[in-house]
Amino acid sequence: MAIPSAFIDELVARSDIVDVVSDYVNLSPKGGSYWGLCPFHGEKTASFHVLPDRQLYHCFGCGKGGGVISFVMELENLPYLDALRLLAKRAGMEFPEGDLDESGRRRRARLLQLNKEAARYFHSQLHSPAGREGLEYLRGRGLSKGIMTRFGLGFAPESWDSLTKAMTDKGFAKGDLLDAGLAVSGKKGGVYDRFRNRVMFPIIDLRGDVIGFGGRVLGDGTPKYLNSPDTPVFNKSRNLFALNLAKTTKLGRIVLTEGYMDTISLYQAGFDCAVASLGTALTADHAKLLSRFTKEVVICYDADAAGVQAANRAIPMLEKTGLKVRVLRVSGAKDPDEFIRKYGPDAFARLLDQSENYVEYNLGQLQSKYDLTDPVQKTEFARSAAEMLAGLDSPVEREVYAGQLSELTGVGKNALLQEIQRSRNQRMRSAKRKQARRDMTPVTQVQPKARQMRYENPRSARAEEGILRLLILDGSLLRETEGLEPDQFSSPYLGKIYEVLRRRIREGRALQLGMLEGELDRDEIELLADILRHPEALENGKSAMADYRAILDTEQMKRRADDEAALLAAREKYRQKKSI
Ligand code: GTP
Ligand code: MN
Repeated sequence: MAIPSAFIDELVARSDIVDVVSDYVNLSPKGGSYWGLCPFHGEKTASFHVLPDRQLYHCFGCGKGGGVISFVMELENLPYLDALRLLAKRAGMEFPEGDLDESGRRRRARLLQLNKEAARYFHSQLHSPAGREGLEYLRGRGLSKGIMTRFGLGFAPESWDSLTKAMTDKGFAKGDLLDAGLAVSGKKGGVYDRFRNRVMFPIIDLRGDVIGFGGRVLGDGTPKYLNSPDTPVFNKSRNLFALNLAKTTKLGRIVLTEGYMDTISLYQAGFDCAVASLGTALTADHAKLLSRFTKEVVICYDADAAGVQAANRAIPMLEKTGLKVRVLRVSGAKDPDEFIRKYGPDAFARLLDQSENYVEYNLGQLQSKYDLTDPVQKTEFARSAAEMLAGLDSPVEREVYAGQLSELTGVGKNALLQEIQRSRNQRMRSAKRKQARRDMTPVTQVQPKARQMRYENPRSARAEEGILRLLILDGSLLRETEGLEPDQFSSPYLGKIYEVLRRRIREGRALQLGMLEGELDRDEIELLADILRHPEALENGKSAMADYRAILDTEQMKRRADDEAALLAAREKYRQKKSI
């Protein structure tokens, strides 16, 4: 029996490890992760560690570790499939018993069909008497009929069951409506429409399928926006509103906004390059998705503090994928939509041209923390800005920004460049020290915890671990492993894990630890959890990958040389014996 991998991925994505572990263990947050008493061995002080960003657990006491599935297997003492069943129930997902692959595919097709019909229904309601208020609302927000049609906007009438009725008339089951997130089950077993008295924004994926909806109240009610929940066809962290339109823009960049209305307003004003995340913070998946369609992203979030904060979080994520990042700040309006309505498209085009690249933006952010009229603070600012610029790898960029900084602070450019260089040297020294410390780590500490595993070549194995860590953190680095085969790994366990990761990346699938638990055995998962626990800087992923590969190559060559020497020695011995 094969479980569709998409189901497992979805299940793991919906089973946050912190949530699941919290069902059994009292966890306390500490510096971005969680600690608690290990449920697998008796202890009085917490050595059980849960890392939400890598979705793994690890106990420093007993060495147990893994992802969300192995946690349940271990704790409930369940075989793999039963652990999946338990998690599915917990996540409110139907476990695909029977002929799974085929039924899963059919299910998705059915839900997409239903979404399409629902979008048609909402759109027709907008232009019917029942939708008069909705139409007025959208007109009041300055949208033309043409743009409403272009985005397929609609209206969900003020009724508990109008959509459910219309869709069941078309042959859909109530279960379909529930699964698509269009209906909600009531207390008495009935179902009712999720979206009522709201203007509707269909969310369309790159293939043109309607995968979900956002619905806005007419006026000031709460919640202001209601979005479809994640369903088998809809995942908020992997889709962007209007990317289906923006992907063909000729404007050479994509403008990233916070809201549906911002995106639509921009589009209507001629900027057919706007997209919005769906009421969630930008994810690494979003960033990767964007990098497939453009080279430059302009972040254009709301003018409030939350918008600034969200931009600060989004910048490094976008940067990491190799995108050029600029930041546009609207002033005199709370968001891009309001700005366009107040000042018009030309004013926005000017802002777009003046948008700062992220270095300028970061400098501006830093500057706002200092009072430059005070000489002491000005020096302090110059110093910390120099430290920031030391992070730029391009000497040309360092030169340019040192010039800007010099103008801003009155500190000579050469002095700033010296300061930058000093800071770079310092970084280099501390990196070298770290490396030296790592090289001194006794071999025994490098050995995997699992009993029956042993690294023949700890130096190579450490590099192999690094390669796996890099791949899991950023699948696009697979490009840098061209020509590297699993059997070149000195450790067969690590080689096997590499093979699994490589296949999944090529298939475009996610790499969360929990999702790998069907393809690796218990010890391998534990090993991987242990590997992932260690930090890995991603800014220089490519060069780190190259370094690791160089170690693999050298060690392999040494191994071959050793083998050859051993062979020669054996031959020599044999000859001597014969001559005797
Ligand atoms: P309006 O212009 O007031 O219609 O909204 P907006 O598009 O400017 O959105 P806003 O800046 O208020 O929020 C940005 C995005 O966050 C929205 O487009 C929604 O996707 C999401 N959002 C806003 N309010 C809510 C809410 O109450 N619940 C949920 N789930 N999402 C919301
Ligand atoms: Mn708005």
